[in-house]
Amino acid sequence: ESTLGAAAEQSGRYFGAAVPAGRLSESAYTTILNREFDMITAENEMKMDATEPQQGQFNFSRGDQIANWALQNGKQLRGHTLAWHAQQPGWMQNMEGSQLRQAMLNHVTQVATHYRGKIHSWDVVNEAFADGGSGGRRDSNLQRTGNDWIEAAFRAARAADPGAKLCYNDYNTDGINAKSTGIYNMVRDFKARGVPIDCVGFQSHLGTSFPSSYQANLQRFADLGVDVQITELDVEQGNNQANVYGAVTQACLAVSRCTGITVWGVRDDTSWRDDNPLLFDSSGNKKPAYYAVLDALNGG
Ligand code: G3I
Repeated sequence: ESTLGAAAEQSGRYFGAAVPAGRLSESAYTTILNREFDMITAENEMKMDATEPQQGQFNFSRGDQIANWALQNGKQLRGHTLAWHAQQPGWMQNMEGSQLRQAMLNHVTQVATHYRGKIHSWDVVNEAFADGGSGGRRDSNLQRTGNDWIEAAFRAARAADPGAKLCYNDYNTDGINAKSTGIYNMVRDFKARGVPIDCVGFQSHLGTSFPSSYQANLQRFADLGVDVQITELDVEQGNNQANVYGAVTQACLAVSRCTGITVWGVRDDTSWRDDNPLLFDSSGNKKPAYYAVLDALNGG
């Protein structure tokens, strides 16, 4: 196959990209997006600050732009993200306790209800674990409402949109390390107690090297009975960029429950990073990394 999406579909997987609403009016951009990708994530437009700028007053206009473009063009949608310590609206940032818990749950319910039936997978909770060796939770206003805030968010999301797969999503979890093991233990506990969780997202914002335990890490989560996905892939430009992209793709293909890969942007000039980490250069040309991914998806 000659596009990323079609090549991924050969094994029943998807290949997605994160998209900012502002690019949907640029035809050079949407030409690539429409041709190559079959799953769309809103880069910022479905986050808490975007969707509930004033408490109880929801604004879905920019999120809907992305959702409508995706559905009109036959793409699936990943929802990103219902509950996160970052990009909270100002009114939420200084809330605490039961008031915050209730506001968070209402947010999850309202946003998941608005997009009900349109979302393949939701990143229900994003980046709730701490970096470093503790394996524990990140401190945040949400965490301080009680350790059960994550499962409460998942239950609210399931009630609001029973058809969406519900994912936990995080970064620096791309190999076996203390942080990914902390998440592994949470997912194992959720499965044991019947907390609704269907998938785990590995963001995979990578530097110049490929974590040696990458595939084994995906596999250990899959063995818990959840799907796994690469959700925000980008890789530092350099001699090894194509190799790392190819290795990530092969690792996903080797894990039957790894159901898809999303890159965190289309062209280098649209990336949140300044080290040209994507598959297309700023002019929209395919880079060596593109061909490494395509070849891997095609079984080469
Ligand atoms: O739109 C406003 C603009 O009006 C304003 O003038 C400008 C001034 O700062 O800010 C613009 O908003 C920025 C927004 O991107 C859109 O460009 C925000 O400041 C900026 O913080 C925001 O950055 C986003 C970042 O998440 C926020 O945490 C990045 O685009 C986005 O790529 C990044 O994505 C995250 C994932 O959600 C979670 N995982 C990590 C990943 C990378 O950081």
